[in-house]
Amino acid sequence: MLRLFRATNFRCLESAELEFGKRFNLIHGANASGKTSLLEALAYLGRGKSFRGATTANLTRHGATEFLLFGEVEQDGRRQGMGVRNGREGLEVRVGGEAAASAAALAEALPLQVIDPEVHNLVAGGPELRRRFLDWIAFHVEHEHLAIWRRFRRALKQRNAALKSRASESTIRSWNHEFLELAADLDGSRRRVLELSLDSLLAHGSLLLETELSFEYRPGWSQDRNLSDALEAGLERDLALGATQAGPHRADIKISYDERQARKLVSRGQQKLLASAMILAATQTAQAAVKRPLLLLLDDPAAELDRLSIGRLMAAVADLDCQVVATSLDPDALNFPEAPTVFHVEHGEITRLSQ
Ligand SMILES: Nc1ncnc2c1ncn2[C@@H]1O[C@H](COP(=O)(O)OP(=O)(O)OP(=O)(O)O)[C@@H](O)[C@H]1O
Ligand SMILES: [Mg+2]
Repeated sequence: MLRLFRATNFRCLESAELEFGKRFNLIHGANASGKTSLLEALAYLGRGKSFRGATTANLTRHGATEFLLFGEVEQDGRRQGMGVRNGREGLEVRVGGEAAASAAALAEALPLQVIDPEVHNLVAGGPELRRRFLDWIAFHVEHEHLAIWRRFRRALKQRNAALKSRASESTIRSWNHEFLELAADLDGSRRRVLELSLDSLLAHGSLLLETELSFEYRPGWSQDRNLSDALEAGLERDLALGATQAGPHRADIKISYDERQARKLVSRGQQKLLASAMILAATQTAQAAVKRPLLLLLDDPAAELDRLSIGRLMAAVADLDCQVVATSLDPDALNFPEAPTVFHVEHGEITRLSQ
């Protein structure tokens, strides 16, 4: 779990240092005080990127040329440092005193999930977020997943480049073999992790929404043929569009709510609860795999939820045994099962108020 955190020149935070509690932490403050900035800084430390898709220039405090984030993660009584620097030279990552080649090292050192006011997009938005959702679980559950995913992306790029340059059909077919092999691996690992998470998805869904949900994996091509046949049948179209239309890069999860398609038919608050149920299930599944508490970041979880719903959400969060950092406008809006460590933020300055 994350114990110490420092952020320098990140959004409105000039220099912030926090010693977090092991279980529940609450950051409260007025609008524009810096709550989301702090949560985004935490998420960046564990991902090497912004959860809102913000650019480095937007994340760097106005007037500064780079930002720095540092954390100390405690595991089995020992602390390990991890840090990120991003500026003109690009992203620099260090874990345990050593330079790391990619942001994946951060995700391994500090696995985390986020529920923020945009979380409903996991249900209401396009399929990419749902693929990322499955891939995030797979990254923590299956060691080879990231390598397979990277190789698949490369194979897809090469096939698409051949399609765009209108290479001969035989050249394009020559890319199929690797593409199909990696597609099968990726498809397999996503199906396994959805299956592995299913009980938790259904349990969290019925807890938060009091209804029957279903989650069905859609592989990214028509289910009445295999991918090899789908590629063959789609070759002309692929050539016309200059991009591969069938494959795991088009996969999705079909979510049904009382047998209706959740994406179109549930209210915004219900979408938020449904998406939160999915995040909690992913957290639980990954936590069981990595065998240590994950960090769960809740940015203004009370927004758009009625009292009963926020109560249910916080109860489900409390049941997970993860480390929680939550923000709120109102210090009393969130019902924690035990007293949280409380911080107040004002104009980017953070003060610890308890313990
Ligand atoms: N790169 C930056 N440099 C300096 N200030 C920034 C930067 N990016 C954002 N800010 C400012 O930081 C302030 C705090 O924003 P933040 O989103 O953290 O507020 P918040 O406490 O989450 O507010 P709300 O309750 O409205 O969600 C805002 O005034 C914003 O304009
Ligand atoms: Mg905010």
